[in-house]
Amino acid sequence: MSFDRLWAELAPIGRSDDGGYHRYTWAGADGDARAWFAESAAARGLDVRTDRNGNLWAWWGVPGPGAVATGSHLDSVPDGGAFDGPLGVVTALAAVDELRSRGFTPSRPLAVGVFVEEEGGRFGVPCLGSRLATGEIDPARARALTDAAGITWADAMAAAGPDPDGIGPDPDLIGMFDLFVELHVEQGRALADTAHPVGVASSIWPHGRWRMDFTGRADHAGTTRLVDRSDPMLPLAHTILAARALAQSHDARATVAKAHITPNGTNAIPSLVSAWLDARAADQSALAAVVEGVREAAERAAHDHGVTVAVAAESTTPLVEFSHDLRDRLAATVSDRVPESAGPVPLLPTGAGHDAGVLSAHVPTAMMYVRNPTGVSHSPMEWADPKDCHAGVTALADVLADLLAEPGRAV
Ligand code: GLV
Ligand code: MN
Ligand code: MN
Repeated sequence: MSFDRLWAELAPIGRSDDGGYHRYTWAGADGDARAWFAESAAARGLDVRTDRNGNLWAWWGVPGPGAVATGSHLDSVPDGGAFDGPLGVVTALAAVDELRSRGFTPSRPLAVGVFVEEEGGRFGVPCLGSRLATGEIDPARARALTDAAGITWADAMAAAGPDPDGIGPDPDLIGMFDLFVELHVEQGRALADTAHPVGVASSIWPHGRWRMDFTGRADHAGTTRLVDRSDPMLPLAHTILAARALAQSHDARATVAKAHITPNGTNAIPSLVSAWLDARAADQSALAAVVEGVREAAERAAHDHGVTVAVAAESTTPLVEFSHDLRDRLAATVSDRVPESAGPVPLLPTGAGHDAGVLSAHVPTAMMYVRNPTGVSHSPMEWADPKDCHAGVTALADVLADLLAEPGRAV
């Protein structure tokens, strides 16, 4: 299966010695991964194009309306796993090979996509490529986003090649897609103890990212009496514990995993601490309760410690319920490869965000997951057995064969 060769070619790009991935949008390894995709697609005779937002599209057939689209992303979180994103890209190319080896001729075009900045690992807003293409983010705001070094999206994009002045809604592109299907590594263990190497997505929890800036007063760690301090680390500590308790009581998720401390000296009380809340819940009201609770806790703790705090949403994504027709069609196709004794193909909700979720408000969209025995993701421990990856290629090829067999029509 061509999957193995493609996977082996991509695997070293952006991988550190300890096995974690560092592929950040528009930076070195990201450019190498994009070049790998363009070369691999061109070698298959696919027509590779960069859209106005920097997303890559490899077309099988003439680009135009009625198309089926698939794909995922190649960027990673800091020290990420090998599968989150790349599995959907590599299986898509391998599925094209598989369909050709079956002698299949599509009755409508197929576009294999690579979305930019899905993780928001460099510029903070996740699914930026799909948000831009669908008009879900103001292009001026996107251009001004900065990375940790203060480099803007506009400057980073221009340095990598594409023109940042052209970014924004792309109705011509999105309008060509009748359907979008994203294959992804599972980010949990729902499939692990089943006879199913592949499951189908049902929904994505509403989620978002909030920036919290605690401003205090820098001073000497040895000479400043405790009562005289305005130390912004203290309200942050209270806020993190409150977020955990709120998540627990609402059956939600709340995480503070990124913080910047200014000036970040061991013996200087900080003047500013910025931290990011990532919050997710099964429904919008639980999410709002968690976020409002965290905001109140931050304001209370800031007041108690003589510090000010500002909390602002950086990105939000509403509940996604994938197209039931398409989801059921995928499940029926996938179930053909598993014995009846395995039971129905699992339909899985997830707390993870995806470009498929952003697209789903504009195009009938579905996702399928390949089993991950560790259940771990956003970590080098993320894993899928090669046999299950092959099952993913077969499942995606079967699904695409079904969808591409009929000339452009919405499901
Ligand atoms: C993306 O993987 C996210 O859910 O943060
Ligand atoms: Mn991810
Ligand atoms: Mn992903």
